[in-house]
Amino acid sequence: MWEKRPVLLLILATAAILVGTVVTMVLPFVWVNTEADRIASVTPYTPLQQEGRDLYIREGCNNCHTQTVRPLVTEVLRYGDYSKSGEFVYDRPFLWGSKRTGPDLARLGGKYPDSWHYKHMDSPRSMVPRTNMPDYAWMKTNLLDPEMVRRKMQVLGFPYTEEQIKALVGKNEIDALVAYLQKLGSDIPWRVATQATMVGELKNPFVRDHQAMEEGREIYKKNCASCHGEHLDGDIAPPLNGLTQTDAALFETLYNGLPAGGMPGFASLGASKIWQVVSYLKYHDHEKGQH
Ligand code: HEC
Ligand code: HEC
Repeated sequence: MWEKRPVLLLILATAAILVGTVVTMVLPFVWVNTEADRIASVTPYTPLQQEGRDLYIREGCNNCHTQTVRPLVTEVLRYGDYSKSGEFVYDRPFLWGSKRTGPDLARLGGKYPDSWHYKHMDSPRSMVPRTNMPDYAWMKTNLLDPEMVRRKMQVLGFPYTEEQIKALVGKNEIDALVAYLQKLGSDIPWRVATQATMVGELKNPFVRDHQAMEEGREIYKKNCASCHGEHLDGDIAPPLNGLTQTDAALFETLYNGLPAGGMPGFASLGASKIWQVVSYLKYHDHEKGQH
């Protein structure tokens, strides 16, 4: 019936669209950057981190990586706590992005030790065999220009000290990039907040089960060998032959990771696979003494 009264239809349609626009676009501007939106623990980038950020943009890393975890269960399970608007107040420009050839990096900080990043940037395939991420080893040969970094900090209005500028002498582009990557999403203590405390008795269902240990070995090769070594003999992470923890303690370590030490959590594998790895680590005959 309204379609026969074009003027009324026009007015109602415009009103409907305006309400939508105000709610989804104008209102957020009212609270963005207000005290309610600020997060006290979020700090500006240091000169080294800021330079890493500029290199990230120069190299177009954002063509393959997003930097925002959406508030969806699947995303939070995979990447960690969803992104808060207050976490981006020092991002100029923001790098949320829309294309994920590689994983989201918004919660990357603290996920891996620095040494993992150095190896991965040198040659991503040394850490993740089938990745299509390009090598960036050549960036190590480019040194930073401290005076240029100082000028950028001044333009951005971020605080810096003379010591921080002096410390840039002799640093290369990968040093800056890794410093930046380690800050991503780590200003709020979300890792600690999401650590699960195991309730009840944790009992390994696969003690000395051969099938489970074989599967555990495969899971180990895919997920752990890049840091702990092909033969559990250690690499950038400690060796795992001769572990003395209880099965339950190992389960908790694998489930939550050791955030302070750079060991990622593997909750996303699911409990059954974690127990298989625990069985492989604890009960498989690792030919001790041969390595
Ligand atoms: C052609 C697409 C592509 C480009 C360009 C690219 N990456 Fe990646 N990146 C990937 C893929 C795919 C992965 C997943 C496998 C892996 O870890 O290599 C990845 C993984 C990563 C990871 C590990 C993330 C995690 O949680 O495990 C980091 C860190 C990373 N990239 C940083 C960078 C940086 C920094 C740049 C720019 C210098 C960059 N990437 C450029 C495709 C890309
Ligand atoms: C990105 C590198 C990395 C990956 C991948 C990784 N770890 Fe670790 N892991 C570490 C680091 C670093 C430590 C030492 C942390 C510390 O001491 O706080 C560690 C510590 C451990 C420990 C405690 C060792 C001890 O002596 O008490 C165990 C057990 C362990 N990892 C098992 C695993 C298993 C199993 C996997 C695969 C499911 C795995 N890790 C994947 C880096 C990694």
